[in-house]
Amino acid sequence: MAKLQVAVVGAGILGSRHARVFHEQPETELVAVADLNPERKQVADRFGAKFYPSIEAMLANETVDAVAVATPDHLHREPVLAALQAGKHVFMEKPLATTRDDARAIAAAAAASKRIVMVNYSQRFVADHVWIKQAIDAGLLGKPQMVIAVKFDTISVPTAMIRGWSAQTSPIYFMSSHDLDLVYWFLGTLPREVFAHETRGTLDAQGIAVHDGLNALIQFEGGVSTNFHSSWIHPNTYPRVSDGYLQIIGSEGALMYNNRTRAVELFNGKGGQKVEFTGPHTADEVNGKITGAFTESVRHFISCIADSREPMTSPRRTLIVAETQAAVIESLRSKQPVVLK
Ligand SMILES: NC(=O)c1ccc[n+]([C@@H]2O[C@H](COP(=O)([O-])OP(=O)(O)OC[C@H]3O[C@@H](n4cnc5c(N)ncnc54)[C@H](O)[C@@H]3O)[C@@H](O)[C@H]2O)c1
Repeated sequence: MAKLQVAVVGAGILGSRHARVFHEQPETELVAVADLNPERKQVADRFGAKFYPSIEAMLANETVDAVAVATPDHLHREPVLAALQAGKHVFMEKPLATTRDDARAIAAAAAASKRIVMVNYSQRFVADHVWIKQAIDAGLLGKPQMVIAVKFDTISVPTAMIRGWSAQTSPIYFMSSHDLDLVYWFLGTLPREVFAHETRGTLDAQGIAVHDGLNALIQFEGGVSTNFHSSWIHPNTYPRVSDGYLQIIGSEGALMYNNRTRAVELFNGKGGQKVEFTGPHTADEVNGKITGAFTESVRHFISCIADSREPMTSPRRTLIVAETQAAVIESLRSKQPVVLK
């Protein structure tokens, strides 16, 4: 069978990983890379693909089957809509978008397109998270009642890694997207009300007009109270660029997960257990290939194309995450709770 031809749009840190992973899958061939920055041609060269200075130039010259979009958070709408307009399947980076309008436009275009569109919520494919989902579904915690999901990055992220656009996004988009998606998936219920607080000053002082961090209290259906924290001003001496932890407290048990040690500890009426995960996490090199959750996410996309089935993280299925993020930003501005309709 002919390989699926794929183009990557936006070949920065994540887009170059998209390029490599699509290049490495037996069912796909990376044929083109498009980026406004001519220096990204080296990503195309590395995999023997053609380079284009824009998605428009790429679409005008290539007959690819699928487009992978890894442009900055606030610049997802245009390339995704252009790819759908051209009849391509789309694999796109999280978050869906940074405004309610953009998120709804992408979800509507995806639904109307009859193409496979998937948001790369790759953390659903991490074995540690799958174990937690199974533990909750098996009733080991009873009814989940409280969740705390914490993410923190070092200050190198907003001041160096994505300095060009950190003020156009927020930790609730750049960092908590995965947590929101995971908790929504774990609970299987819908968020209903959001109240958020921000703290700022450290990044403002460096000329980057964005909050240093925020806390969002989110009430889910069934009275589940959740707290999402994300901040990106940890000192660069912290041993990891990105870290976090998760706690889920239920009517019959409590679970703690530490990102750094990859240990899940679960306690309920039957006793306690600790599971330490050691296999590939998001993107680890094994036998010269990228393996782990990111690759599994790409492979889910490929299998959905083969079977004409909706990905588990399609825009339709994950629009609620974007609606929640938009409500967080709205609550920060209004200093009031925001009810999700
Ligand atoms: N799934 C994950 O776990 C994960 C992890 C990190 C980042 N991301 C997401 O990946 C996306 C990209 O992040 P990054 O860190 O690679 O950013 P980056 O700044 O390193 O790369 C973005 C690239 O997009 C290019 N670009 C911008 N506008 C463009 C356009 N209109 N057409 C073509 N190219 C364009 C830029 O020139 C740049 O090369 C973000 O949405 C980010 O949140 C996802």
